[in-house]
Amino acid sequence: MIEAKESSEIENILTTFDELYKELTLKDTKFINAKEVLNSRKSIIEGCRSVKENGFISVNMIYGIHQIVEPEKGSIRKTAGTVKMNSRTREVVHIPPQSENEIREYLANLEKYINNHQDGIDSLIRMAIIHLQFEMIHPFYDGNGRVGRVLNLMYLYLTKKLEVPVLYLSRYIIRHKDIYFQLLKESGDSTEGIRKFILFMLEAVTVTSVETLNFIESILKSQDEIAAMIKLKAPKLYSKELIDALFYEFTTKNEHFAKSLEVSRNTAMTYLKTLERIGVLRSEKIGKEVIYKNTRLFDLVEK
Ligand SMILES: Nc1ncnc2c1ncn2[C@@H]1O[C@H](COP(=O)(O)OP(=O)(O)OP(=O)(O)O)[C@@H](O)[C@H]1O
Ligand SMILES: [Mg+2]
Repeated sequence: MIEAKESSEIENILTTFDELYKELTLKDTKFINAKEVLNSRKSIIEGCRSVKENGFISVNMIYGIHQIVEPEKGSIRKTAGTVKMNSRTREVVHIPPQSENEIREYLANLEKYINNHQDGIDSLIRMAIIHLQFEMIHPFYDGNGRVGRVLNLMYLYLTKKLEVPVLYLSRYIIRHKDIYFQLLKESGDSTEGIRKFILFMLEAVTVTSVETLNFIESILKSQDEIAAMIKLKAPKLYSKELIDALFYEFTTKNEHFAKSLEVSRNTAMTYLKTLERIGVLRSEKIGKEVIYKNTRLFDLVEK
């Protein structure tokens, strides 16, 4: 979810975690931006599921990701005219291939490159090259940045650099958007530009890995704290499964809670109320549903 939220921010799709979980509960709300982020999240989950199932990344899978990210923007570009401009100066910074045939050829070539791991080049470097190639081809009218960022995770997952798709690379890219754009531009001009772009992406991986590890550690720490708190204030409720259920997502609902703990809805309700009383959860009514937020997790991401 974090990767999806940050990935959407480069396109100025700003949202809050609060809106995200409301949208996740209601499915059809006024939170248009939350919807976009949830599409990004769905695309990461679906992309990695598909990588796992197939053991490769195909152009068709990339089309599929684009459909999820931008369901209303068509598929591969069919009419010429798309150029990349600097949004401030209006200077043309990149002219991607214009004809559909050319785009398909470049994509087929990229597909070959992605799936040929025998060149001895480290997959982190290859990820940077793949991202660069993909953005240069710019196959769609819109959503190329977001699809390119999902592709990063899919590739790291394919090459087993990531066991689970958690690496919030988009955050780094967005925080350094100006330099990222500048280096994409320079990559089109010179080999030195390409080298600088690869180094930028490697730095993104380094910084983000540390941040992600820290984040996971802070989640583990709050799990311990919550466990201690429950043991102290509501010892009868405590079980390892309860903690897992509380940390499965940022929010929970009676239905999910009952299912994961294998208890009746009534029992689940008693649990939820007790957990709210001792400050572990905070309930909120959304439409006809009540969701329970894990207050600690929200604090971690919305500080
Ligand atoms: N000079 C350039 N050459 C090639 N690609 C570029 C250049 N400058 C920017 N880009 C890429 O174009 C992306 C934006 O394209 P597009 O609007 O199709 O994608 P998006 O997903 O809608 O946007 P965003 O990346 O802002 O979320 C940027 O994220 C970047 O990856
Ligand atoms: Mg766009």
